[in-house]
Amino acid sequence: NRIYRIAVIPGDGIGKETVPEGVRVLEAAAKKYGFELRPDHFDFASCDYYQRHGQMMPDDWKARIGGHDAIFFGAVGWPKVVPDHVSLWGSLILFRREFSQYVNLRPVRLMPGVPCPLVGRKPGDIDFYVVRENTEGEYSSVGGRMFQDTEREVVIQETVMSRTGVDRILKFAFDLAEARPKKHLTSATKSNGISITMPYWDERVEAMAKHYPGVRWDKYHIDILTANFVLHPDWFDVVVGSNLFGDILSDLGPACTGTIGIAPSGNINPERDFPSLFEPVHGSAPDIAGRGIANPIGQIWSAAMMLDHLGEPEAAAAIVRAIERVLAEQKLRTRDLGGAADTVACGKAVAEMLD
Ligand code: NAD
Ligand code: IPM
Ligand code: MN
Repeated sequence: NRIYRIAVIPGDGIGKETVPEGVRVLEAAAKKYGFELRPDHFDFASCDYYQRHGQMMPDDWKARIGGHDAIFFGAVGWPKVVPDHVSLWGSLILFRREFSQYVNLRPVRLMPGVPCPLVGRKPGDIDFYVVRENTEGEYSSVGGRMFQDTEREVVIQETVMSRTGVDRILKFAFDLAEARPKKHLTSATKSNGISITMPYWDERVEAMAKHYPGVRWDKYHIDILTANFVLHPDWFDVVVGSNLFGDILSDLGPACTGTIGIAPSGNINPERDFPSLFEPVHGSAPDIAGRGIANPIGQIWSAAMMLDHLGEPEAAAAIVRAIERVLAEQKLRTRDLGGAADTVACGKAVAEMLD
């Protein structure tokens, strides 16, 4: 019946400026493509909420958003009032873990007309996906502090890799690679130095690759992989990494395409037992928040990923085409891309360019 109930959570900082532009474009797409959006707006998962209630979310947060078809999210973090690990472990990281959104899918694409910081690169040269493990790995709650505030103080945080957790992200990444024309997968590792978990990751990659004879695959240690993102971005098609490596690569990749302000992401639960969450890769940008100058494209492209996930691929593709048209015109681009348009002007331009 093409009615979608969306939990809309702007969060903090520029999330409050970019989310309305995402919703604007979603509503324009709904009108054009004949589906209905039922947005529910929530003020929790924000540091404002924390200041009022002493916690990031109400106790029944799961019941309040767990039944929606998807979550449309801005960004969380206002470190002047709440320490980042408190605000993020109390919201976004909880969503990812509790809703089993174990895939963080982050496309990296050089768009036509956007100035590329890497000399001589043109659209088509940079067009790949970072597939980030999103529920375990280096982001673990296993560890602790001992001998606090003494000379003997020790802090430990374990990396957790479960067979289920590693295999399911690798399977998603190989499936994606198999469906793409280049059929190429790159694994991010560090098995030369991290001598238990990373060799395990490599083993599981090798085992999974056996099920995908049509996929060409390779692996790089994370240090040289970051160098190759800059020197040879054309080498990559699907890049799969652990939670931390994927986090780093998914800021570096978009930076190589001109700005992190356009990068989208899907925090996906492929089994659809829970809602998936769509958000830009960037954060709340306290340095520019409140000025109406943030780039809304990362948020809007995330809306397109959400529609794709909900089963509206035509509308999703139309949004991406509109983004390309807007980015091709300097006067419609925001400042991070050398333009002078503000957040609202850029968002409106995308909504108007929908075909
Ligand atoms: P950030 O992504 O917020 O900002 C990094 C730099 O990029 C800043 O100079 C910012 O102005 C710029 N930038 C980011 N998005 C932009 C946009 N759309 N348009 C124009 N410029 C943009 O990263 P940070 O400074 O490391 O973190 C700030 C806060 O956000 C912290 O509290 C952090 O924990 C949080 N954070 C949240 C998320 C999330 O909710 N998913 C992601 C990253 C960081
Ligand atoms: C991201 C962010 C988060 C992460 C932070 C804010 C916890 O950087 O979504 O990439 O590290 O996952
Ligand atoms: Mn990040």
